[in-house]
Amino acid sequence: MTMQSPRPLSLSAHSPLTGTITVPGDKSISHRSLMFAGLAVGESRITGLLEGEDVLATAAAMRAMGADIVRGDDTVWRVHGVGVGGLLQPQTALDMGNSGTSTRLLMGLVASHAITVSFTGDASLSKRPMDRVITPLSQMGAEFTASPGNRLPLMVRGIAPAVPITYTLPVASAQVKSAVLLAGLNTPGATRVIEPVPTRDHSERMLRGFGADLTVEETPEGRIIAITGEAELKPQTITVPGDPSSAAFWMVAASIVPGSDILIRNVGLNATRSGIVTALKMMGADIEEVDARDVGGEPVADLRVRHAPLSGIEVPPELVPSMIDEYPALFVAASFAQGRTVARGAEELRVKESDRIAAMATALQACGAAIEEYPDGAAITGTGGEPLPGGARIETHLDHRIAMSMAIAGLNAKSAIAIDDARPIATSYPDFVDTATALGAHSAWLNQ
Ligand code: S3P
Repeated sequence: MTMQSPRPLSLSAHSPLTGTITVPGDKSISHRSLMFAGLAVGESRITGLLEGEDVLATAAAMRAMGADIVRGDDTVWRVHGVGVGGLLQPQTALDMGNSGTSTRLLMGLVASHAITVSFTGDASLSKRPMDRVITPLSQMGAEFTASPGNRLPLMVRGIAPAVPITYTLPVASAQVKSAVLLAGLNTPGATRVIEPVPTRDHSERMLRGFGADLTVEETPEGRIIAITGEAELKPQTITVPGDPSSAAFWMVAASIVPGSDILIRNVGLNATRSGIVTALKMMGADIEEVDARDVGGEPVADLRVRHAPLSGIEVPPELVPSMIDEYPALFVAASFAQGRTVARGAEELRVKESDRIAAMATALQACGAAIEEYPDGAAITGTGGEPLPGGARIETHLDHRIAMSMAIAGLNAKSAIAIDDARPIATSYPDFVDTATALGAHSAWLNQ
């Protein structure tokens, strides 16, 4: 992080939110763009890359392993890759900051290269489980020395050639799926991942686009994804669509601030990511998809969102993978709904950048919301559109999505809601506060 001490922040709104905004590039696609381009021989060009700290950690790591990655003054990123199998031994440990996606996907890449790499991270990342990738990658032949509990800091000793495996995902995780597929890129033969529950499919779409031999088969046991190595990736020109996970904060903000009417341009609406739009619409949100189109092989639309009275719902558990990062924002929306919202089947929330169930339950209770915690979710009884009492300072636990969700809750509160530290927002959404003020919200930086 760039700044040494915490930066408490409070957002408020004294009038409706209005205006047209864009959201930054999709984080998942941005990470993958740099990694895949970093393995292709020749020049790839990436437009719309998210320039957040998580993605910059991926860029630094790929550079440390030999890729030539340059951001032009035109904001286009140009990447000359090393070729699959060509990753070089980095000279120092790779600092992954706050980024679980960088860590787990790069562990997969390193696993099938004959290099030894140490991964470190911040206090949040160092608490997160890595056994979920260590298990399959060990089966492929890589060796790991991890901190207690299979956590960071850890060291991966990769192996070439690695052994192809067929791996059934024990948790619905696109990161685990991607780690195994990326290890498979440099592994002779077919590496297969079986996912009983579909998760975000950016790796599959993009690897195919880069020319990898990758097949997807729908079967009664789930989706079987097979990648054949050793692959050769061809350089690509990539346009990264806007991140639906970032757009979600404004969908909720406009829904809960009376009179609001906003347009969010260029939002990625891949079906494996757009569960939040479905859930909010079920609650009565007024979200209109305008000018649906295709950007870089991903469905995209502009979203017009107008304030609307929300009602409590049972969030269908089958939506969990397609909105896993949006539960904190959904909990905020539910706090303003009429009646009770129940969200279950989302135990994965406990191992994100923070324990998001506990963090949001504590935060919303402190603001006067009625939220009950379950091991795998929460039940929330909303205000029926009335402001929350507020008047609390929220612990964000180095978690950007807790920080942004609670900042948005402050847009409809009687007394200010302060988040204790806005710095983590820069991991995924450096322009978040500027966008809030562009919509007419008021931002206040507070004393520690
Ligand atoms: C991501 C997958 C999800 C998500 C994360 C990004 C990805 O994690 O929560 O923010 O880019 O593959 P899991 O794979 O742990 O579900």
